[in-house]
Amino acid sequence: MIKRICQWLRTPSKMAVGTLVLITAIGVMLLWGGFNKGLEMTNTEQFCSDCHMNDVVPEYRASVHYSNRSGVKAECSDCHVPHEFGPKMIRKIQASTEVWAHITGKVDTKEKFEAHRLEMAEREWARMKANDSQECRNCHNFEDMDFTQQKTVAQEMHARAQDEGKTCIDCHKGIAHHLPQMKGVQESFIPADMLKKDESTPANK
Ligand code: HEC
Ligand code: HEC
Ligand code: HEC
Ligand code: HEC
Repeated sequence: MIKRICQWLRTPSKMAVGTLVLITAIGVMLLWGGFNKGLEMTNTEQFCSDCHMNDVVPEYRASVHYSNRSGVKAECSDCHVPHEFGPKMIRKIQASTEVWAHITGKVDTKEKFEAHRLEMAEREWARMKANDSQECRNCHNFEDMDFTQQKTVAQEMHARAQDEGKTCIDCHKGIAHHLPQMKGVQESFIPADMLKKDESTPANK
């Protein structure tokens, strides 16, 4: 039997080459499928909630992105995990250090989480600022907003945001979680350079 297989491999007929190519292709497809399945699994709300249940999850569940009149929900990964392959892989690799932090107890209590929160929020803000709030724009965008249906402040701010090149996260911090304890963050809901021009702009939502 073995001998025959060796023989078959040594003197490949067109058939044999074809079979090998086919088997390899199927193998690659299975691996790729498993890989994507794994990626998908680590994108579910359940997966994230297993670790974040005692910190951000209750806050998120009280937010409009969890439950709203339209029944469209933004999950953790919709805001935190890029859709594009490259950035997604980078985020996944970074995330594996979170698992380490969890196992080693670096941030395993609410207190430790709060102490660490500003640092984490700042990293998320920087990431979103750098990609022009891509994750928000996967669902929302200025072009499709009916400004006339928005509150006056929102209308005015969104019109100016476009002119002045501001991105969602410049103004909409703390939309799904509590803001970290820090001085000035509430006041900075609207970027300082936009406030100067118009003293009457409300400083906070
Ligand atoms: C195994 C536990 C675990 C799982 C699962 C997990 N996290 Fe985390 N996450 C942590 C820990 C611990 C930290 C704090 C890490 C640190 O200090 O570096 C963290 C930090 C974060 C941060 C802050 C990142 C930063 O740059 O500081 C975000 C955002 C986050 N997690 C989102 C998610 C999302 C979204 C998911 C699901 C796709 C998820 N996490 C799944 C344990 C976990
Ligand atoms: C998966 C799609 C999705 C993503 C991603 C998403 N949103 Fe939303 N957003 C919604 C939906 C749906 C609503 C609720 C609409 C309604 O009022 O019924 C909403 C509501 C809002 C509101 C109104 C809040 C209120 O109190 O009425 C703001 C502000 C907002 N989103 C900003 C953002 C920002 C900033 C991001 C990125 C960090 C973001 N969204 C990401 C779908 C999304
Ligand atoms: C210059 C600051 C600024 C920027 C940039 C900005 N917004 Fe807003 N947005 C506001 C203000 C102020 C409000 C009104 C806040 C409120 O009523 O709670 C608002 C309200 C909203 C609302 C609710 C509208 C309503 O009438 O209920 C949504 C949705 C929203 N913004 C989404 C976005 C998205 C998505 C982006 C990025 C594409 C964005 N915003 C960029 C300042 C901004
Ligand atoms: C609508 C978008 C959105 C959704 C949905 C969302 N987040 Fe966030 N998250 C943010 C933004 C924006 C920040 C940056 C800090 C801020 O502005 O609150 C953040 C910050 C964080 C942080 C850093 C700590 C902090 O509070 O700043 C963690 C951890 C986190 N998110 C985990 C999660 C998990 C887990 C889920 C799902 C249960 C989730 N997020 C759902 C937008 C979102």
